[in-house]
Amino acid sequence: MRLTMIGTGYVGLVSGVCFAEMGHDVVCVDVNPERIASLQRGEMPIFEPGLAELTERNVNAHRLSFSGDIASSMRGCDVAFIAVGTPTRAADGEADLQYVFAAASQIAATMSEGTVVVIKSTVPVGTNLHVRDIIAQRRPGVVASVASNPEFLREGFAVQDFMQPDRVVVGSSDTRAADAMERLYRPLALHGVPVIATTPENAELIKYSANAFLALKVSFANELADLCEAVGGDVAEVTRGLGLDARIGPKFLQPGPGFGGSCLPKDTRAYAALGHKNAARQSLIERVIELNQARKLSMVDRILAAMPAGASRGTVAVLGIAFKANTDDVREAPSLTIIPALQRAGLTVRAHDPEAMKAAAPLLPGVSLCDDPYQAAEGADAVLVLTDWSEYAELELPRLANAMRGNLLFDTRNLYRPEDVTVSGLLYRSLGRSPPVELENQPPVRAPRIAAV
Ligand code: NAD
Ligand code: UGA
Repeated sequence: MRLTMIGTGYVGLVSGVCFAEMGHDVVCVDVNPERIASLQRGEMPIFEPGLAELTERNVNAHRLSFSGDIASSMRGCDVAFIAVGTPTRAADGEADLQYVFAAASQIAATMSEGTVVVIKSTVPVGTNLHVRDIIAQRRPGVVASVASNPEFLREGFAVQDFMQPDRVVVGSSDTRAADAMERLYRPLALHGVPVIATTPENAELIKYSANAFLALKVSFANELADLCEAVGGDVAEVTRGLGLDARIGPKFLQPGPGFGGSCLPKDTRAYAALGHKNAARQSLIERVIELNQARKLSMVDRILAAMPAGASRGTVAVLGIAFKANTDDVREAPSLTIIPALQRAGLTVRAHDPEAMKAAAPLLPGVSLCDDPYQAAEGADAVLVLTDWSEYAELELPRLANAMRGNLLFDTRNLYRPEDVTVSGLLYRSLGRSPPVELENQPPVRAPRIAAV
């Protein structure tokens, strides 16, 4: 089939490249000329493991190309995907659909009779109908075949998630659109991937409720970690025992500094707004949103409680700016709340991230961005690990300790074994592990350090 992918972000680019890998002819289109120029030069505009190799292979096989011109890209198109952003609308927390509607109008203006239009972006109930109306208005003579096909990939595992998804969801009340999607996803179905054919409304709700539930699970783990600290439990052992119940499942029970990213925060807001607007309040998720904000700020309180009081309160080295490992995405990363709060409290912040420093630089004024974690730790009173990069899990802790002025290692991802940290001469604090994390009662950060081993 001949496919046009509108939007070359984390979802559009990955989907376009993977459809090309499945054998289709794909043109990926974007309104951002720099993004298209870099793709045409063979450079990846985002960091996503495995994507560069797959892109190169499919470009060389002449199945994949990039364009800034939607009109020429729509020529001969069987299926046009809308994969543009749906950020939060500031006024009411609902999804801002302006980019989806603009893309729909552009497709409508340039599509041929028979082209199927598929919404891959995460959109609220009713958007499928709205897109159909846009096409009908702009092209009165053309039958608008529209489907919703929400995407469930995770950044950092996007290629794998796209090629081997837990399920594919297709929502459509149009036979031609449903048939085209059935053809498109047949190779995955043949490998046992469940393909759910449903209504557009159900498809839209499946996507939002999935992200809302994942956010709920993470927030549960965060509160459980607090309880473990308070009563002397170990969250890793508790969640292992909990998650082995097949009805609960082991994933998404890792405590952290609060969930971030371009989707869980905005999609929980949109889900809550959808409930509010339709007099079916989603109070659990409303509470999750509040808890998550409080979670990020509680990380700040824990650091502040351990730092010396006074005007100049010392230096913190933050390891990890991206919202999670294996991505350069900093959208709604906990670091972007935590670091400015530390600065407002008078702390100097040095930081490192393996992939996200370019994206983070304009967002973190006053932060010294360092080439490696040891450089960031140079002269720091405390090291704060915010992202679960595996290279941080592999740090040489004695070397880190030697670089620091103080000795506090606050690990919000539980990357280390406490005994390994302590033997390095560092005072270790993590989440949900006994002894309770009560930094106020700990020795001051500049207390004489145990000699590094
Ligand atoms: P993104 O911001 O990374 O990329 C969107 C791209 O669309 C940008 O490059 C932008 O320039 C382009 N664009 C906007 N309007 C356009 C137009 N009219 N024509 C052509 N290009 C246009 O967004 P993303 O993270 O890929 O997310 C896209 C959608 O997919 C969102 O609805 C999101 O919720 C959903 N989603 C994202 C993920 C993820 O992991 N990022 C996973 C599943 C679903
Ligand atoms: C999430 C969903 O996992 C995808 O299924 C979905 O397609 C995507 O949103 C989307 O709609 O955009 P992603 O944003 O890439 O994917 O990130 P996740 O892996 O879900 O992590 C989200 C946040 O939760 C991160 O900050 C992560 O560190 C945190 N998290 C996750 C935890 O704190 N603990 C966990 O156990 C899991």
